[in-house]
Amino acid sequence: MVKSKIAGIGMYVPQRVVTNNDLLKYMDTSDEWIQERTGIKERRYAHRTEETTTTMGVEAAKIAIERAGITPQDIDFIVFATLSPDYYFPGCGVLLQRAMKMKEIGALDVRNQCSGFLYALSVADQFIKTGMYKNILVVGSEKHSFGLDFSTRGRNITVIFGDGAGAVVLQPTEDPNRGILSSHLHSDGESAEILAMYNPGTHANHWTNEPVAEFDNAEIGQMFLSHAIIDKAQVFPNMDGQAVFKKAIIKFPEVIMESLSVNGYSTADIKVLIPHQANLRIAQFVQQKLKLRDDQVYNNIQKYGNTTAASIPIALCEAWEEGKIKEGDLVCLAAFGSGFTWASALMKW
Ligand SMILES: CC(C)(COP(=O)(O)OP(=O)(O)OC[C@H]1O[C@@H](n2cnc3c(N)ncnc32)[C@H](O)[C@@H]1OP(=O)(O)O)[C@@H](O)C(=O)NCCC(=O)NCCS
Repeated sequence: MVKSKIAGIGMYVPQRVVTNNDLLKYMDTSDEWIQERTGIKERRYAHRTEETTTTMGVEAAKIAIERAGITPQDIDFIVFATLSPDYYFPGCGVLLQRAMKMKEIGALDVRNQCSGFLYALSVADQFIKTGMYKNILVVGSEKHSFGLDFSTRGRNITVIFGDGAGAVVLQPTEDPNRGILSSHLHSDGESAEILAMYNPGTHANHWTNEPVAEFDNAEIGQMFLSHAIIDKAQVFPNMDGQAVFKKAIIKFPEVIMESLSVNGYSTADIKVLIPHQANLRIAQFVQQKLKLRDDQVYNNIQKYGNTTAASIPIALCEAWEEGKIKEGDLVCLAAFGSGFTWASALMKW
């Protein structure tokens, strides 16, 4: 049976390192608070004008494509996951297709936030398994630094997030000891507003009892983005951190166990678990709950913060570059985030 394997992987993080202490310039916070609650020591911020979500994705993609031993012209489909796109529309997929001078192939954007990369990987996996495509580029990239609230008001969210990109090339394999064994996708929109950026959007306060946006008094239009929304700073993400935390520590273990049991494995069989890098405390909780050893869980949030759709491919790439993942190893990827959506993928590397 044909499965898909990761034939090449790459990552890119911007040069600018921003430490916790650097953030003190903008908001009332502390290195101690951030490290204690999240494990984060520093993160990267993209160059304000020279780097975008797409350009970082391109840098990661170049490495993944080269490592797969192919050229950009060999790619026959793009899946690009991000919540911080260059444009509201069109998506980053077509911008990457243009920047990398690829053929007139399909380009799909995925908007599943922290689970974005796993949703993208799962979509690509299906196209490979059906035989429709042979070389699919899957990218996760974020330029959070452009859209965060750097005043004290936004500190609970802003200190967590960082910029970066990761990419993989998926190819078919018939080797029984390699490839993606299964992927598992879930959602529960009941708490959609708990971690969300409402504006710009067409919601018109339809979904909540308390208005989440203020609109100008106008006969027509001005509901997507208004002067009032900007004046009242309603253009930033909102998060109830504790609610996210509580749900994440239930759903992470659940979706990891789902991937293992479907394939007849136990936690002892995992060589490396790459959890989405949301918060070191969440990853540690999951590790404890599943009784995994330190060497079975890979974390690098300390250096990069939460890079949302990019966090799994960045961590997977670093783990592989450090020699922690070898051919045939059982690797589990798992994510939870805004939506809520959560997902896992189990593979033999
Ligand atoms: C965000 C998170 C770190 C906050 O930690 P917490 O222990 O829940 O903290 P709280 O939100 O209850 O806030 C506690 C206090 O710290 C303050 N605080 C919030 N952010 C702060 C910051 N960056 N620096 C200093 N103090 C901060 C709050 O104002 C609050 O003060 P108060 O007690 O005087 O009201 C934590 O909830 C979390 O990580 N949740 C998961 C979020 C996540 O993973 N999101 C990504 C989605 S995948």
